[in-house]
Amino acid sequence: MPEYVTVAKASEIKPGERIVVEVKERYIAIFNVSGAYYAIEDVCTHDDGPLAEGELHGFEIECPRHGARFDIRSGKVLSMPAVQDVARFEVRLEGDDLQILI
Ligand code: FES
Repeated sequence: MPEYVTVAKASEIKPGERIVVEVKERYIAIFNVSGAYYAIEDVCTHDDGPLAEGELHGFEIECPRHGARFDIRSGKVLSMPAVQDVARFEVRLEGDDLQILI
């Protein structure tokens, strides 16, 4: 059953920054965009590229390997060569604890 898991202190991720955490044997990229937090799996659906190492344009993360883009709000794939969405996770704040539903 999915449950909320504390993954970081929100204050550790400043606006414009991202971190990668390991939770339940999955790598999750967590982004702070203008004070709002978003979480997606840190594994590109094309060929396992590390998405958090890519460039973020607005809400679009560009895979550093072959340039596929995903919307970090929804996990939706936006461009080739990836054709499958990436997993996204609900994020909530409990005080300064950043939690994801996983
Ligand atoms: S591994 Fe991400 S575009 Fe190829």
